Amino acid sequence: MRVTIFGATGLLGKALMREWQGDELTGLGSRDVDIRSEEQVRASILHRPDWVILAAAYTDVDGCETNRELAFDVNCRGAVNVVRAAAEANARVIFLSTDYVFDGTKNRPYEIDDPLAPQSVYGQTKAAAEVEIRKILPEVCILRTSWVFGVGGKCFPETILTLANTRKELDVVNDQRGCPTYTIDLARIIIQLCRKGAHGTVHATNSGECTWFDFAREIVNSARLKTQVRPTTSDQFVRPAKRPAYSVLSPASLQRYALVVPTWQDALQRYLAERGSLSG
Ligand SMILES: NC(=O)c1ccc[n+]([C@@H]2O[C@H](COP(=O)([O-])OP(=O)(O)OC[C@H]3O[C@@H](n4cnc5c(N)ncnc54)[C@H](OP(=O)(O)O)[C@@H]3O)[C@@H](O)[C@H]2O)c1
Repeated sequence: MRVTIFGATGLLGKALMREWQGDELTGLGSRDVDIRSEEQVRASILHRPDWVILAAAYTDVDGCETNRELAFDVNCRGAVNVVRAAAEANARVIFLSTDYVFDGTKNRPYEIDDPLAPQSVYGQTKAAAEVEIRKILPEVCILRTSWVFGVGGKCFPETILTLANTRKELDVVNDQRGCPTYTIDLARIIIQLCRKGAHGTVHATNSGECTWFDFAREIVNSARLKTQVRPTTSDQFVRPAKRPAYSVLSPASLQRYALVVPTWQDALQRYLAERGSLSG
């Protein structure tokens, strides 16, 4: 199988490049191809891959609020360029989307066919991309995930561990509930989904759910740090982009492919071990 990964230099992309064995991989970062350019995208898949993994995106959720045009250019128009070129090359596609396409007003896990109602520009760009790429390639696999963490880039556990080294107390919001997702586990799911010929919308995260406060406390405790983690509210910690209060994604669509993902607590332990092995 020939596979081309857009976004191979990102947090998830690095895990995909590491985990994927036994197939012919091409990994592309923004220096290799700017997905906003139709010509560059077409030229990058002239070798006619069987699968295209579209993990390239402008992922700065707060930055998207002030750079709306850039956010739509990369996340929506760029995605359309990639999916159109992939369709012309007869390649199948997995497109990475987000829990932020939902408004967060539910209190039960979001199913794949729940209505999209993004609250942020980032969520809007991803929701718009989902709609547009499905028109081009109806059998596209839209893979929504959430709260991605892993080694090799900026992520929540990295931020918490850095802060915990210099602060006695940390205030973390306790009124946003979702599920963390370890890049290694997500990469393994993506590989399996390709092998199983996935299509349609799929939700994939680690299992379980928590608030950012729960997550931070588990990170600090697991790393045996003394910092006290205190719960706060989104009102006390205002950010440019509105986040959903509840964005747990139902695993039902993944179970259709007989795929089970470890708990986020288990994933966190493996992340800390991986991070430790890299620094020591
Ligand atoms: N991180 C999360 O919490 C989260 C949650 C839900 C969904 N997702 C989705 O999962 C996917 C992977 O996320 P991630 O956290 O791995 O992202 P990331 O670490 O920010 O990496 C983004 C990737 O996109 C590439 N890229 C950015 N602009 C580009 C452009 N104009 N043309 C070509 N490539 C471009 C970057 O290339 P360079 O590094 O070479 O510039 C990088 O490889 C994204 O689609 C994201 O929306 C992420």
